[in-house]
Parts: sequence; C-alpha cells; structure tokens
Amino acid sequence: MKEFGRQFLILQVIVSLVICVDLTLALVSPNNNRCSEGGSISRQDAFKAGFAGFAFLAGSPETAFGFDNKVASFDRPKRKGPKPNDLGVMKRMDIVGEEYVGLKHCGSAPNCFVSTDNIEDDPDHNIPSWSWPEEYGDDRKKAFEQLVSTINSYEPGQSNIDGGGFKIITNESSYIYTQFESLKNGYYDDLEVAYIDGYGKRNVQVRSSSRIGYLDFGVNAKRINYIAKDLRSKGWDAPGVEYKTHQNYVIQNEIE
Ligand SMILES: *[C@@H]1O[C@H](CO)[C@@H](O)[C@H](O)[C@H]1NC(C)=O
Repeated sequence: MKEFGRQFLILQVIVSLVICVDLTLALVSPNNNRCSEGGSISRQDAFKAGFAGFAFLAGSPETAFGFDNKVASFDRPKRKGPKPNDLGVMKRMDIVGEEYVGLKHCGSAPNCFVSTDNIEDDPDHNIPSWSWPEEYGDDRKKAFEQLVSTINSYEPGQSNIDGGGFKIITNESSYIYTQFESLKNGYYDDLEVAYIDGYGKRNVQVRSSSRIGYLDFGVNAKRINYIAKDLRSKGWDAPGVEYKTHQNYVIQNEIE
C-alpha cells in the first residue's frame, strides 16, 4: 500500500511536469508560431494537451500515435489524411494525353516531387531519378536491398521532420513504399521508389508527397535529400531536390 502511494506520487509529479511544459509552451508561443513541420501550437492545443495529462491521471487509456521509431508522442488529434488510391506504378496520362507508365502525378501544391513526369510539363515537381553504381550492372536485387537499408537507416526527426517515424509498408523486388509521419499533427507522407522498365537500366524512380494541405515547409525536399545523400555515399548518382531549380517551392515554403 505504501509502495503504491509512492508510485502514485511519482506519477503525479511526472504528470504535473508534463502539464507545466504544456502551459509554458502555451504562454511563450505566439499564436502564429510556425513549427518545424508546418503546424503550430496554439494555446488551445496546449491546454488540450494539458487536459490529456489530467485524463491520463484519471486512468483513461493512453492513445499511442506514430510509428515505433517516432521520436516522441504528441497527444493531439492526428490528421493523417486518406492514402491516395492510385499510388504505385501504373499507366498514367501526361498533359498532352499521351500514356506512359509511371508514379502518380503531383498536384499543383508545392508539397510533392516525382521523377516520372515530364520535366517540361511540370518543372516545379519534377526531380531526377536515381541511378545505382555502374559496377552493380543489372543487379537490381542488390540495388533494392541497398534502398531498403538506406530507408531503414533514416533518422526520424532529422532536420526537425518526420518525428512521428516511418514504416516500410511494401517491400517488393522493384518497388518500395514507405509512410512517414510528422510529429505534431501526425500528417502522413508517402515515399515510393520503383524500378520501371523503359527509364534506363540502372534507374530508380522516386516520389515523395504530402497527402493533405498545401505547403509542406520543405519536408518532402528534406526527406528526399537526406535519403539521396546516403545513397550518394554508397556510390549512387542521386541528385535529390535542387533548391536553385525549384525556386517556387523554396519561396512558397519559405526555406532558407
Ligand atoms: C525486403 O525484401 C528483401 C528481399 O525480399 C529482404 O531481403 C528484406 O529482408 C526485406 N526487408 C524488409 C525491411 O522488409
């Protein structure tokens, strides 16, 4: 009984601390505070988080959000958005009505990049594909094992993005689909890499996109660039998102 009392006291202290942090956040953050992942902590949200702390104390079940490798939890409503039903490699149509096989188009919002669209059709969203090292020849298996290990070594929270962690959902011999979650709002982003016939013998196509909202505050570029950098360190030709050729994205998302 005594032991239980002490544990309860410790729990109370922890919960009080959590609430204090919440309230401090509420007091110091101006309402238009832009957080790293495009959200903002409003006073109301902070108070809600405070109440979540009380709810926890009262014994209601704790709700878990995010993937296993998330950096932290934020107890607030999550807005992951519906998964697009036309991800993957399939027949698409370009703006002049010609068919091609590729990844999903980006919409008009500056929160998506894809390598399979025609660069002249959509220069703001187009990025180069990635090529595995010449010495791998046509060893696609080796290339895709490397892609899996690169994705799995991704650091949730790097550059203050993807704090909700990530998970490889589909791992096939020429297609890898991964979901990333933002920390505070729980937005889901979709990352796909695919080998598609007809694009070049050593080429891997890539697409990274937000599901909902308009701006991404640089998240998709930062994610792609982190992964591309790791691939380059393994000998790949993987350019990533060049800011100087994506000025509309840079300006709208206010990336320095
Ligand atoms: C992905 O698939 C490859 C080949 O089938 C397998 O070797 C690897 O263990 C898988 N990795 C993950 C993370 O599922």
